[in-house]
Amino acid sequence: MIGPLNHVGVAVPSIEKAIETYKNLYNATDITEIGEMTDQGVKFCFVNLPNSQIELIEPLGDGSPIQSFLDKNPKGGQHHICFEVKDIHKAKIEMEEKGATVLNEPRIGAHGTPIIFIHPKDSDGVLIELMETPKH
Ligand code: CO
Repeated sequence: MIGPLNHVGVAVPSIEKAIETYKNLYNATDITEIGEMTDQGVKFCFVNLPNSQIELIEPLGDGSPIQSFLDKNPKGGQHHICFEVKDIHKAKIEMEEKGATVLNEPRIGAHGTPIIFIHPKDSDGVLIELMETPKH
């Protein structure tokens, strides 16, 4: 059911500093502009790799859903991994039928396609994002 690994989400206290790390320490050259999703309380950008992406996310505004993660992990840390699925609504129904806790109604994510999150308790402590594959 799950398709390719789309990205690994990394929560950071400062996107600008994290971008410098990926540029200077790992010689990453293809990094997107920083975007904001005010309704979801995040600033984000993507470090493009040959086979995947790292999504850097920084809290934006009060009550950001990643602030509590950063409170526990002040230096930042791996926050979620994202797999592509063909149909997000079918995926949500299937997840719920299997007893998993789907954390949100499908909403548009950083790639412009609908996403849902699955509670970490269902996947060995890992927060899973499912994202509908972009239709190019
Ligand atoms: Co993500």
